[in-house]
Amino acid sequence: MEVLLFETYEEMSRYAGRMIGDRMKAKPNLVLGLATGSTPLGTYKELIRLHREEGLDFSKVVTFNLDEYLGIAPTHDQSYRYFMDTNLFNHINIKKANTHLPDGKAKDPAKFCLEYEKAIKSAGGIDFQVLGIGGNGHIAFNEPGSPRSSRTRVVNLDEETIKDNSRFFAAVAEVPRQALSLGMATIMEAREVILLANKANKADAIVRSVEGPATEQVPASILQGHPRATFLVEKEAAAKLKGKYRKVRA
Ligand code: PGA
Repeated sequence: MEVLLFETYEEMSRYAGRMIGDRMKAKPNLVLGLATGSTPLGTYKELIRLHREEGLDFSKVVTFNLDEYLGIAPTHDQSYRYFMDTNLFNHINIKKANTHLPDGKAKDPAKFCLEYEKAIKSAGGIDFQVLGIGGNGHIAFNEPGSPRSSRTRVVNLDEETIKDNSRFFAAVAEVPRQALSLGMATIMEAREVILLANKANKADAIVRSVEGPATEQVPASILQGHPRATFLVEKEAAAKLKGKYRKVRA
């Protein structure tokens, strides 16, 4: 895995947005894996800017999101569908039919998960996957202990994740306790992966993922075994790293 260090969140986000833009120019029908959360917001802003100011064309791009809360409708303002529409899709020329998220209201969630895996396969597989990281090292909602062989499935959220996400809900009791999430094996099959991290609350998860052993107890550490994974890390999130890594200005 490669680690790139950035002075600021803005620089990390610009760099990530440009990486995606470059891959889209090389392959206009790129299959893009997307993430929600506060971390990728700057990257999505850069993609919107590249579309508006430089004509970056999303008309053939296909997207698959990592996860969705179980039991939450797409119209709910905390659904990940709502997040993606308002923070990215509504501002670029992507076809909504080409944007996929797990359905939090699926009648048969287990069956839906199998279909989601099939849809990724029939689109040709994920070319480029964007990831954030949880304070506990999770990627998507693969919480510590998620098997390397896991596929898209219904997962129980960790207490730490529920607490982290409660800032978006009126009360902790309203945070969903389950989600649909891409599995570890599904993420590892993406041809290229970037993981973004900023802020001091990610510093432990980053040092454990990059410099600790690859273990299912720290899901992001499994990316050490990915042939083309890059961690883009802002200064505060990188504070506990001991090794020497490339510093990038963007
Ligand atoms: P955040 O979430 O970007 O809001 O910090 C990241 C995650 O939990 O994967």
